[in-house]
Amino acid sequence: MRAVVVGGGISGKAIADAVAARGCTVTQLSRSTGFDVVRDDVDAALGDAEVVVEATGLFTTSRRRATDFFTRSTRAIGAATARRGARHVLLSIVNCTRPEVQGYGYFAGKTAQEQAAAAVSPLLTVVRSTQWFEFARQNTERMRFGPFVLVPGMTIAPVSLDAVAGVIADVVVGARTAPVVEVAGPETTTLWEMTRAMRLPGLVPVPLRIPGRTGRAFRAGALVPERHVEVVGPRFSEWLPSAR
Ligand SMILES: NC(=O)c1ccc[n+]([C@@H]2O[C@H](COP(=O)([O-])OP(=O)(O)OC[C@H]3O[C@@H](n4cnc5c(N)ncnc54)[C@H](OP(=O)(O)O)[C@@H]3O)[C@@H](O)[C@H]2O)c1
Repeated sequence: MRAVVVGGGISGKAIADAVAARGCTVTQLSRSTGFDVVRDDVDAALGDAEVVVEATGLFTTSRRRATDFFTRSTRAIGAATARRGARHVLLSIVNCTRPEVQGYGYFAGKTAQEQAAAAVSPLLTVVRSTQWFEFARQNTERMRFGPFVLVPGMTIAPVSLDAVAGVIADVVVGARTAPVVEVAGPETTTLWEMTRAMRLPGLVPVPLRIPGRTGRAFRAGALVPERHVEVVGPRFSEWLPSAR
C-alpha cells in the first residue's frame, strides 16, 4: 500500500510512523518538506498514492481563517484523490460539529472542512479523535505570554496521539472500514488538570474563563464523547512519565 500523509509536526510524524509500521510505503508532505497544500500542485505531489491522510492544521480562533484554510486543504486533497480513485482519510475532532461549540472559530472551520470533504471525496473516512495528550503542551506554546500560560476551561477526554495514529493506520490498510471512526481516551479530565500535572519550568499557568455560550459548553463537557465512542490508549497519568 502506498500512502501519503499531508501534515507535518508531531501528528504527521506519528501517523507516518504508524502507517509505515503496517508495511506501507509512506511519504510525508508539508511545508517543511517543500509542499504547501493550498498553493502547490496536489496531483503532482501525491504520486501514485492509494491512500492520502489529511492531517494539516492552522492554529487560529478566527472563523474566517480557519474555514478558509481547512476547506482549501480538503478541497485540494479531496479533488486529487477523487481524480485518481484514491482514498481520503481526514483527521478531525470528536464533537467539533456540535452547535454549541461553533462560536469557537477553529471548530467552525473544522465543521466546514468535514462538510467540504463529504462533498468532494467519494472514498472518504473521517477519523475523529478527542484532544491528544500533546494538546496540553501545544496549548502552553500557543497561549504563552511571557512566563504566563493561559489555560482555557475545558473538560475533555484526552487520548494518546500514538493510539490515534494506530487507528488511522488501521484505516489506511483497510483493517477498519467504517466511514466515520471516533476515538477517545479512557478518562475525563480538564486541560487545567493536565497542565498542572506537566513540568513547566519557569511557566505560570493561569486559568482562562472563555466567556459566553462556547466557554460554558467547553467547561460543561461539550467535547466529552458520548458512550458509543471507542476508548483507546493509556490514561494521561500513565503516559506522562514517558513524555518527559
Ligand atoms: N491537537 C489535537 O489535540 C487534535 C485532536 C484531534 C484532531 N486534531 C486535528 O488534527 C490535525 C492536525 O492537528 P495538529 O495539532 O497536528 O495541527 P498543527 O500542528 O496546527 O498542524 C499540523 C501540520 O500541518 C502542516 N501545515 C500547515 N499548513 C500547511 C500547508 N499550507 N501545507 C502543508 N502542510 C501544512 C504543518 O506542517 P509544516 O509546518 O511543515 O507545513 C503542521 O505541522 C488538525 O486538523 C486538527 O484539527 C487535532
